[in-house]
Amino acid sequence: MTPLFPLIKELLAVTAPVSREVVVRGWVRTRRAMKNLVFVEMNDGSTLSGIQCIFDLASPGADGGVTAEIGRLNTGASAEITGKLVPSPAAGQKVEVAASGLRVLGEAPAEDGPASRAYPLQKKRHSLEFLREMPQLRGRTTTIAAVMRVRNRLACGIHRFFQERGYLYLHTPIITGSDAEGAGAMFEVRAGGGRAEAGAEANPGGFFGKRSFLSVSGQLEAEAYALALSRVYTFGPAFRAENSNTARHLAEFWMIEPETAFFHLDDNMALAEDFLRFLCALVLEDCAEDLAFFEARVEKGLTAAIRQVAETAFTRMSYTDAVTELEKHRGAFEFKPYWGCDLQSEHEKFLTEDAAGGPVIVTDYPREIKAFYMKQNDDGKTVRAMDVLVPRLGEIIGGSEREENLAALETRMRELGLDTGHYDWYLDLRRYGSVPHAGFGLGFERLIQYVTGMANIRDVIPYPRAAGQLY
Ligand code: 4AD
Ligand code: MG
Repeated sequence: MTPLFPLIKELLAVTAPVSREVVVRGWVRTRRAMKNLVFVEMNDGSTLSGIQCIFDLASPGADGGVTAEIGRLNTGASAEITGKLVPSPAAGQKVEVAASGLRVLGEAPAEDGPASRAYPLQKKRHSLEFLREMPQLRGRTTTIAAVMRVRNRLACGIHRFFQERGYLYLHTPIITGSDAEGAGAMFEVRAGGGRAEAGAEANPGGFFGKRSFLSVSGQLEAEAYALALSRVYTFGPAFRAENSNTARHLAEFWMIEPETAFFHLDDNMALAEDFLRFLCALVLEDCAEDLAFFEARVEKGLTAAIRQVAETAFTRMSYTDAVTELEKHRGAFEFKPYWGCDLQSEHEKFLTEDAAGGPVIVTDYPREIKAFYMKQNDDGKTVRAMDVLVPRLGEIIGGSEREENLAALETRMRELGLDTGHYDWYLDLRRYGSVPHAGFGLGFERLIQYVTGMANIRDVIPYPRAAGQLY
């Protein structure tokens, strides 16, 4: 294995720090001086708390260069500090570094100068809105770094969950010719950038000979491979030109979409529930330090809520029963519920927080408010859809059993005015060896929001893209 220098996380885990020589590399979080002692908290993003390095400028052992260098060691500067790892007398940390050597690698000016700009993330806490305008630096803050560590563990856990269950990781296309959700909120792709006109002359149909878009979902393509490999899942970006300027929508987000052959709605619900509960248990287990931070600084009661999801069965109810329940409390809602309406955030909130006191899987929605591919029920009104709703957030997963009957699917597509010729490849899956199958999509950022308590979805993705925002 290639030798790597130890991360601060590894240094902090040393249990018998018998004056071991170490090198700390990272960025200065805070720095304060007391007489001859300078306390510098260094962080390299590997842990929440960072490591305390103490320079004793009066010590005869102090490297002659330290006194000269230390003036350049401001908040935000990068440095390499050498010294001894020793037990710490301070509360809240087991070890610290008795520093003897210092090399400032990159300065971060504290004030505007003639040749430089001041480091924007000085010690005081900044609002998340302020930080959103500098995604290139916000990863150095405690909150965003903790979010990204949780994001990483979850990504890893998602692959583990599916790999352990025989699912194959499938890469579906980002550029597509079909509108999977039929919602029409797509970004169109054109070749040539600013010179699109010249390209258009040479190829009137566009680069691909037909219109193309950024994919809103990999589902349709995943279905094709599920009907060949039995169990597949995607984990990739999805794009939606939704103008809804909400705390739950991004124009570019990541989605996990398992698709399973020989599966019905009940199987699909069980898989979705296992999946969410597995991920909540994983966060409790693997991200305890970051979770304690979110509990203390972002949302009280977060840990208990995640534990509840990990440990208790989800409530299931049909859309019809959900609406009946909501209608009993009409007065509580701004948007009055009725059979056929799309559930609003306030309704989802009521169902999860008041009616069930936990996650709810709502099934069998009216077909008019769901996508064309969903399996139709015999009542002629509803489809085998399932949305998983969670407290605080609302919809986190959307899915369904798929219409596997060729005639039924074609009829539904015509009713909706879809061009069946355009989806001929998709209909082939029903022409040849069709089987019952089902799947769902989990919004990755919604999941991260849920387990971190972060209020705005733009703060759980490294570079948020939303209407009017492209930094
Ligand atoms: O409910 P949706 O639209 O379902 C689909 O895309 C299906 N093709 C999934 C499937 O059956 N394979 O989206 C799935 C999930 C939502 O429940 C939500 O968590 C998330 O994706 N999502 C978004 N997340 C962030 N920003 C947006 N604009 C989102 N739109 C959907
Ligand atoms: Mg949905």
